[in-house]
Amino acid sequence: MKHLLSIEALSAQDITDMVNLGVELKKHRNQTPKVLDGQVWALIFNKSSTRTRVSFEVGIRELGGDVIFLSGADSQIGRGEPVKDTARVLGRMVHGAVIRTYAQSDVEEFAEFSKLPTINALTDEEHPCQILADLQLMKERLGGWKGKKVCFLGDGDCNVAKSWMWAAARLGFELTIGAPKEFQPPQTFMDKLGVDNVKLFDDPSQAVDGADVVYTDVWVSMGKEEESAGRIQTMQPYQINPGLMQHAAPGAIVMHCLPAYRGKEITAEVLEEHAEVIFSEAENRLHAQKAVILWMLGHTSLLG
Ligand code: CP
Ligand code: NVA
Repeated sequence: MKHLLSIEALSAQDITDMVNLGVELKKHRNQTPKVLDGQVWALIFNKSSTRTRVSFEVGIRELGGDVIFLSGADSQIGRGEPVKDTARVLGRMVHGAVIRTYAQSDVEEFAEFSKLPTINALTDEEHPCQILADLQLMKERLGGWKGKKVCFLGDGDCNVAKSWMWAAARLGFELTIGAPKEFQPPQTFMDKLGVDNVKLFDDPSQAVDGADVVYTDVWVSMGKEEESAGRIQTMQPYQINPGLMQHAAPGAIVMHCLPAYRGKEITAEVLEEHAEVIFSEAENRLHAQKAVILWMLGHTSLLG
C-alpha cells in the first residue's frame, strides 16, 4: 500500500509521476476517473486549513468518493484519544485518510495502525502536498525544475522549507534558503539531507541572487503563535519586497503557499504583481491532490 507521508520518502520518479499526473488532470478536469466510487475518506484536521481541506474535499468527490471531515476539537482526538486507537477504528470504517497535525510520528502511526492509504496534509516536519502543487506550477510556468534556482526566504526550518529541501535533494535543482541563523535547519538535518545543491544563507540578497523562483511562507507557522513578536522582528530582512527582488533573475516568479501576511513575509505590492502565479499555485492544490490519490492507487497517467 502506498502512502504520502513526506517528500523525504519519495523517489525522483514518484515525484515526477505525481507532477505529470497533476498536469494531465488539470488539462482534462471533466475526464477525472471515478476511482473512488463507493469509497469514503476521512479528513482529520488538528490545525486550520482553507486550501488543503477544500482541495481534498472537492478532489475526492471528483474522483467519485465521499468525505467525512473531523476536526480535532469536536472529535475524541481533542479529548486525548490515542492516535493508534482512532486509527484502528477508522481503519474499519473508511477507505483512506488525510491528516493535518503537529507531530510527523502521529501521521506515521496512523498509517501503521489504520492500514489505510494515508496522506500527510501538513505536519510540523513536512507539507508534501504543497510542494507537489508547487512543482507542478514550476513545470507549467518554467518548463520544469532542471537548471532552475529556487530561493526560499524566511523560516528556513519550517515544514514547507523542509519539504522544499527534500524535493531539491531528490530532483537535483539548486535551492537556497535565506533565513536568520536561528531559523535555519540544524546541521543534523543538513547531514541527513546529504546533498550540496541546497545552500543556507544569512544574507537574503545572496540567497536570492539569480533565483528563477523566489518563495516564501508565513513567518509564524501554526503552533508557533507564542513566538510571533520575536519571529516577525528577526525575519524582517527576509521580506520579499521590490528591493530584494532586484537580485533575482530577470522575469523571476514569486510563489507563496498562502495564507499571506502582507507587510510581513511579502509586501502587498509584490504579492499583487505576482498574484496570477500565486493563485494558480493555490489552484494547483486541487489537481495535485487528485494526482496523489491516483498515484497511491497505482495509476501513473489518466489512462493507466
Ligand atoms: N497552503 C496551505 O496549506 O493552505 P491551508 O492552510 O489553507 O490549507
Ligand atoms: N508553515 C505554515 C504553512 C501553512 C500552509 C504552517 O505550518 O502554518
